[in-house]
Amino acid sequence: MASPIRTSEKIRIPTPEEFATAVASRPYPTQLRKGDADLTWFNAKPGDGVWGSWGVKATPSRRGLTLMDCEAAEGTPVAEVGPASVAPRGAGSEPSLLPREWDINDKWDVWAENLTSLYEEGCSRQWCATQDIDWHKLEMLPPDLERALCQYNTFLTMGEYLATDVLAPWLPQFNTYFHEIKLFIAAQANDEARHTEVFRKRILANGGGLGMTINLGNALVGMGDAAQSQGLGKVKFHENPLFSTWNHVSYAIHVVFEGAILSMFRFGEFLGKTDVDKQIFRMVMQDEARHVAYGSMHLKYLIEHAPDREAKIKEIHALATQAEMFFLELFFLHPATVESCAVLAGNGVDNIGEGLEIYKSLYRKMRAEYLSRIGRAGLDRSELCMFPAELPF
Ligand SMILES: [Fe+2]
Ligand SMILES: [Fe+2]
Repeated sequence: MASPIRTSEKIRIPTPEEFATAVASRPYPTQLRKGDADLTWFNAKPGDGVWGSWGVKATPSRRGLTLMDCEAAEGTPVAEVGPASVAPRGAGSEPSLLPREWDINDKWDVWAENLTSLYEEGCSRQWCATQDIDWHKLEMLPPDLERALCQYNTFLTMGEYLATDVLAPWLPQFNTYFHEIKLFIAAQANDEARHTEVFRKRILANGGGLGMTINLGNALVGMGDAAQSQGLGKVKFHENPLFSTWNHVSYAIHVVFEGAILSMFRFGEFLGKTDVDKQIFRMVMQDEARHVAYGSMHLKYLIEHAPDREAKIKEIHALATQAEMFFLELFFLHPATVESCAVLAGNGVDNIGEGLEIYKSLYRKMRAEYLSRIGRAGLDRSELCMFPAELPF
């Protein structure tokens, strides 16, 4: 059977001189040499399909010129379905422009009522791990506390990579019509990069060093043979049920994973032994709260606007069951995470027992926050939640 891919046929690449001659003989340069400009874009009437709009004048609000100000000036509601086009929302198209199919075209699939304002907030609250942390004020810690913090931050670094690696590949799937989601997720990837950076800097700034990379083995139970035998790193994320659609990704990452991370950052601030450590956790927390806020409000939008609401809720429950099992093992039952937090909470390795009790209270708080967050979005999992009410130790 003939291979569908023809590998023997070679395309001859022209020399620079040949290419210049070919380009010079094309209609447009020929036309221009005769003094005849094209001006299709210039002569098109606004709204005729070639040019978009005209006479729009967005007025800056108190914070400056926001996307919300631009939307208000445009005055066009965001449609429920994006067109098959690379056009930015509101633009016209060159008559020869070919359609472009996107994977994600429905508003209900990506939207959240706070999406635009969250993006704006992220832009205005940018910070720099190099200059905005008072590194020079870092104080030496007893070796066991430094080691525990380095382990905790090594674990959190893994989490930051997981978030970016799962989210960023979705960027080319969003229709450009919904620029808000593209901008928000691109900005989130940047936030996660800064988190990786700040944790790495902290690990290397105080006499400690990078700790133990944890094996995700147990956390992969129920996620397929490939996941268990290869570890998460080798599994193609889109083949994983947790990450197979944007709704699944957003629930698993923004709601469950980052909801837990947000609790852990808050715990990190509480556990921080130096003002610098508390400062670091405060900074990452404000970013993380935004990521969780999108996830929660997207869940609400999804539940309220998905075409088959009942089926979607059922699907999200099934996904939530898996995500909760996965992240319980990954976050709250892994020895290195439990113990590094407990050493910090107990103020030393000798007082780990007391630290474990404090860790368990963090877990209860995380669980309560999670259930209340999804409850506000319209998903009641009080009877179904796979996070047990108490950690089993
Ligand atoms: Fe993060
Ligand atoms: Fe995040």
